[in-house]
Amino acid sequence: MAVADPIIVSAGESEERLERTWSERRGIYRWFAPVHHTTIGKMYFVTAGIFFLLGGILAALIRIQLSRPENNFLGPDRYNQFFTVHGSTMIFLFEGNASTSGRR
Ligand code: HEM
Repeated sequence: MAVADPIIVSAGESEERLERTWSERRGIYRWFAPVHHTTIGKMYFVTAGIFFLLGGILAALIRIQLSRPENNFLGPDRYNQFFTVHGSTMIFLFEGNASTSGRR
């Protein structure tokens, strides 16, 4: 089997390629193709914050339901749904993103 020819490029071209590969995209593409670990870490951090807020809203609604006996604020089915979504959100979407945000 023939060995592939090495790609020979000039120093200037190689530097320009390197620059292009590692530069951040502009506009909306920046959110879908981040290059720097710091940017990716910040995105995880913000995502974790958003899910903590959403899970927190559910926790507050659960707390209201539990604040009085025989309370009909949520009702049994919605209580179970909010409980489940709160738990899953906090573990997988908040904690998952928060712990990954520090791993860059
Ligand atoms: C890291 C994971 C979690 C965080 C940060 C978190 C956070 C919170 C917070 C801040 C509250 C409000 C506290 C209160 O109202 O007394 C709360 C309440 C609650 N959470 Fe979580 N939670 C997590 C995981 C879970 C899981 C896995 C479940 C169940 C599967 C769960 C079930 C509940 C329930 C039932 C309440 C209402 C308790 C009450 O108010 O008496 N949470 N959570």
